[in-house]
Amino acid sequence: MDSARVDCFFVNKQDGELVRGMQQQPFDALPEGEVLLEVHYSAVNYKDALAAEGHPGVALGLPLVPGIDAVGRVIESRSERCAVGDQVMVSGADFGTRSWGGWATLARAPGSYCFVVPQGLTDRESVILGTAGFTAAQSVERLQHHGVGPDKGPVLVTGATGGVGTFAVKLLGQLGYQVVAVTGKLDQVDWLKSLGATRVLSREEVSDSSDRPLLSGKWAGAVDTVGGGILETTLRSTQPGGCVTACGLVAGHQLNTTVYPFILRGVSLQGIDSANPTVEFRERLWHRLATDLKMSGLEDLATNVALAEVESSVTAILAGKVRGRHVVEVKS
Ligand SMILES: NC(=O)c1ccc[n+]([C@@H]2O[C@H](COP(=O)([O-])OP(=O)(O)OC[C@H]3O[C@@H](n4cnc5c(N)ncnc54)[C@H](OP(=O)(O)O)[C@@H]3O)[C@@H](O)[C@H]2O)c1
Repeated sequence: MDSARVDCFFVNKQDGELVRGMQQQPFDALPEGEVLLEVHYSAVNYKDALAAEGHPGVALGLPLVPGIDAVGRVIESRSERCAVGDQVMVSGADFGTRSWGGWATLARAPGSYCFVVPQGLTDRESVILGTAGFTAAQSVERLQHHGVGPDKGPVLVTGATGGVGTFAVKLLGQLGYQVVAVTGKLDQVDWLKSLGATRVLSREEVSDSSDRPLLSGKWAGAVDTVGGGILETTLRSTQPGGCVTACGLVAGHQLNTTVYPFILRGVSLQGIDSANPTVEFRERLWHRLATDLKMSGLEDLATNVALAEVESSVTAILAGKVRGRHVVEVKS
């Protein structure tokens, strides 16, 4: 194996300029780790696009191979979590942000980043879900934990055609919630309804620029994937006792709000961090994604992209133009 070379999408800085694209790297350049994986699939998350841009908050070290999700076959293992020949998923912690990720023919990672693809999911289904599906499921669990059930009223999902948004709409719809999807892609209204949305709103309809600290309480809960002004308006529009989850920042990382939604309506704002849960939490939620939270028709949500073509997906996701999930086909 030492003589093998790794084909990868490589991000680096040369003379202060970002350089990125397909390269061959020596096998020895792979990071340390107990598990060596022949990567079959990866994906393009928003975070991967930021890593490909060398964004300092995401690309925590350069050079870097992005790809926060990888699925493939174990070819060497010193971890008790998986054995040679197992189909595993690798994600979480700094995989694809500091430790080289899945946009490569081979990946090496600590055993704690790896888990065997759960029974009930194929390797394709696991990567289609990936971090996006895991984050959506985490957000929905959080709403349930706060008592926001389907009988409590409509639940808002922002960034609805994006990776996390797509799965949030689908999962909530499948669980019987009235899902109100917010999108900038008004040509995707029918698609969002086919996923499970009962209503679709434009971003403008959920962005209030007045300084009123509270608006009429419309939402029992919300899965916000965009942040910024839309999250600010959502907090002011949530019913008493409601819960809003926040995982993303595509619309802005700042949050200008008042305490009124919290102290006059008891609204909860729940942060979602999919990268650092415990191994036990990760395995429990993936088991749910393979059983009681299993979503049908996952393949219909995927657009396949060859590793050598991943640049086009980076451009599309940064422009907010992606619908559903871009799956990177590495092995082919
Ligand atoms: N905290 C965590 O653990 C975690 C995990 C996964 C993802 N995330 C974050 O969650 C967000 C979504 O991730 P993703 O991978 O699902 O990204 P994505 O596939 O690019 O989806 C983001 C969606 O947001 C909407 N959008 C884009 N630009 C916007 C803007 N300026 N204003 C309002 N909406 C906009 C678009 O959907 P519409 O056109 O339908 O509006 C877009 O498809 C990202 O910020 C990502 O970093 C966080």
